[in-house]
Amino acid sequence: MNTAPLYRQLAGHYRQAIQQGALPIGDRLPSVRNLMRTHQVSLSTALQACRELEGEGWLEARPRSGYFVRTPRRHEMPPAREPAIPARLDPAAYVGVHSRISEFVSRTNACVGGVNLAVAVAAPEHYPEAALRQAVVRATRLHGDVLCTPVPTHGHIALRTALARRAYDQGMTPSADDVIVTHGCTEALNIALRTVTSPGDTVAVESPTYHGLLQVLETLGLRALEVPTSPQSGLSVEALELAFLTQPGIRAVVAVPNMQNPLGSIMPEADKQRLVALCERHGVPLIEDDTYGLLADDERPQRTLKSWDKTGNVIYCASLHKTLAPGMRLGWMMGGRWQNRAQMLKYASSRPNEALGQIAVAAFLDSRGYDRHLATLRRALRQQRERIAEAVARHFPQGTRLSVPAGGMLLWVELPDAIPSHQVFEQALAQEIRFCPGTLFSNAGRSDHFIRLSCGAPVTPDVEAAVRTIGKIVGDVGRAPISPAGGGARRG
Ligand SMILES: Cc1ncc(COP(=O)(O)O)c(C=O)c1O
Repeated sequence: MNTAPLYRQLAGHYRQAIQQGALPIGDRLPSVRNLMRTHQVSLSTALQACRELEGEGWLEARPRSGYFVRTPRRHEMPPAREPAIPARLDPAAYVGVHSRISEFVSRTNACVGGVNLAVAVAAPEHYPEAALRQAVVRATRLHGDVLCTPVPTHGHIALRTALARRAYDQGMTPSADDVIVTHGCTEALNIALRTVTSPGDTVAVESPTYHGLLQVLETLGLRALEVPTSPQSGLSVEALELAFLTQPGIRAVVAVPNMQNPLGSIMPEADKQRLVALCERHGVPLIEDDTYGLLADDERPQRTLKSWDKTGNVIYCASLHKTLAPGMRLGWMMGGRWQNRAQMLKYASSRPNEALGQIAVAAFLDSRGYDRHLATLRRALRQQRERIAEAVARHFPQGTRLSVPAGGMLLWVELPDAIPSHQVFEQALAQEIRFCPGTLFSNAGRSDHFIRLSCGAPVTPDVEAAVRTIGKIVGDVGRAPISPAGGGARRG
């Protein structure tokens, strides 16, 4: 039997609703009168419950309107440090992360239970499964021959048209002919890189960067030049300019200007413009990866690099994997001035994507349902991000740093005292808790004392407990003695 005072029980009930996302940030709590009626409690019990939640930072009172769920007041935590910009960058190197990443993937996949904070995708319940299923059924009805009719190589016209139309919201002005449908953004990046580079070439990338990009570079025999990237403002345009002046032979730049993976950074518009102009001036193709662009908290869509491209020097790559349908593996690209070559490479490497999914997704993109879905997804991600950030602030040792991004589903946490993330990873995995150690995101070992936590799933008590456990492991590893050899107990 619960012996806590009635107002505490009532507060606990609504705290859980907020923590699990049933009452999202910005929503109004039922009025005091409703609370009294629904839970059969007195006015003072209902009011006390609201004040308890207000005191804990879950609610804010708005005059004459009631109590609203608020962005939680976070414990103080310093922001992640800005990267140093050296006078000379490390020379470009052949990437060597493949075995490290493969081992990480197979070990995390082998762990089937527990809590998974490693995946950069939202939980299935955040995607419009029922609406997409209906769209597929409608597509089979309207296009009876869809399974047996060939599709044009660069994608079904309905989807290319829908994607082109949606691109206008982000400041771009393509026609359907500019669009190529791909197998996720991964294929788009592969094609983009093969379009403008040859094996042995150097490609400038953000540091840290998405580990999948490092894998692609490695499989294509390309060298990565890691350019310092800020957790707040993304790729350092100054450092890239320095690289152009001091390192000959950079054949392409790859950048994720909106909610970079793993940092979550968004480049300021002035920097985006300068980056486009800089690459244009040096005659270096700029490959934009806009996988997360639609997931910023701000309802106003983030502008893309492509929106400032006047000469076709930007190759734009994006995905519907994170925003709409993880199970459908749909991505897309615009090849800019290399469109013909990109189309040819798509044909040569994998032929077209299947048509049924493209027709169904096109219909959904053309509907208001897509806008509603994006708004709901953004709100859920924001709430989950805030909750996990709050848990990190509460449970990680002093000296931990974190900048909470203004969108997306990732948190990049800087561990205190250069604690090695792979050791924390090993100990957490032994307790069935998964996350990405920083070692995956730089070939040059620059992010070994960071970890990336996914905020894609609702924050249940199990998730909170997992963050608490990771924080405890960080503290324990930090306190472990370092051996005189300089490696020591801390090193794994
Ligand atoms: C920045 C970035 N680009 C590309 C991808 C891969 O996209 P897709 O799953 O559509 O192939 C990811 C996936 O995590 C990513 O984070």
